[in-house]
Amino acid sequence: MSEASAAAKLILFGEHAVVFGRPAIAIPLPNLRAHARVQPHPAGQPGQIEIVSEDLHTRLWLHEADMDDPLAAIVQLTLDNLAFRPDKALLVSVQSSIPVAAGLGSGASVSVAIARAIAATAGFELPPQDASSLAFEVERIHHGSPSGIDNTVIAYEQPVYFIRDHVLETFELRGVLNLVLADTGERVKTAQAVAGVHARYDANPSEYNKLFDQIGAITAEAHQVLMSGNYDGLGALMSRNQVLLGSIGVSSARLDALSKAAMKAGAQGAKLSGAGLGGYMMAMVEKGNSEVDP
Ligand code: PMV
Repeated sequence: MSEASAAAKLILFGEHAVVFGRPAIAIPLPNLRAHARVQPHPAGQPGQIEIVSEDLHTRLWLHEADMDDPLAAIVQLTLDNLAFRPDKALLVSVQSSIPVAAGLGSGASVSVAIARAIAATAGFELPPQDASSLAFEVERIHHGSPSGIDNTVIAYEQPVYFIRDHVLETFELRGVLNLVLADTGERVKTAQAVAGVHARYDANPSEYNKLFDQIGAITAEAHQVLMSGNYDGLGALMSRNQVLLGSIGVSSARLDALSKAAMKAGAQGAKLSGAGLGGYMMAMVEKGNSEVDP
């Protein structure tokens, strides 16, 4: 039996603008994870693979599955990548406590956990770059042009300063970041939010390029602040990023209300995280001030 897991993630700065070539910063959330296990199947024919996840409401046999299904896709891609043809029937089971379509990287995390567990079954340890590339292929099925930040931060499990198609820059957090996450309860697919931004960009590229440049400048500044270990000013940068996310049309009334509530309760800054239109609001707070009244 082989087991593996992968972390959730949080985008601190630069979501959406990162799709258009600007930098973004993301960190792993190591305590929130997806787990995958591969074990001999008690019933299947040799070589057949069943994939089961109660959390994701999935139960399917790989040889019957549509490759649009993200779980089937990551299993097949990993088998092909490793040229691994199991001679026994296998059961791949997945458990994840990461909320789906909430901007926490559930899809990429599940993909990386499965790819790692299958590789372990084949006797390999999957390097982060390979886990990242495999998860990226699955992301592409559902959202035509993902930047690659989710699969990257999750596969490397380190903070990243990420620019699409550039050499990856990882860094260490030099101080403790106290973040409060609040769930809007709204769930919107990343593909939908990204398609909306694309449509508005196509209608007004010069205006959107200016907005993306401003987000990129905030992200670059935030990177310097994070590298310095003295986080003064980081909250203000988050709130400025949030205003610009509102301008590109990916905030929501609930995200705005939660950000306002956090600021009223003394947060240093607040913004949405991930694709937006719902999902989680993230607020930066001082230690000991992490309780926000609803
Ligand atoms: O998958 P989410 O919701 O964390 O969003 C990913 C971040 C985006 O910038 C909106 C999309 C992308 O491909 O980078």
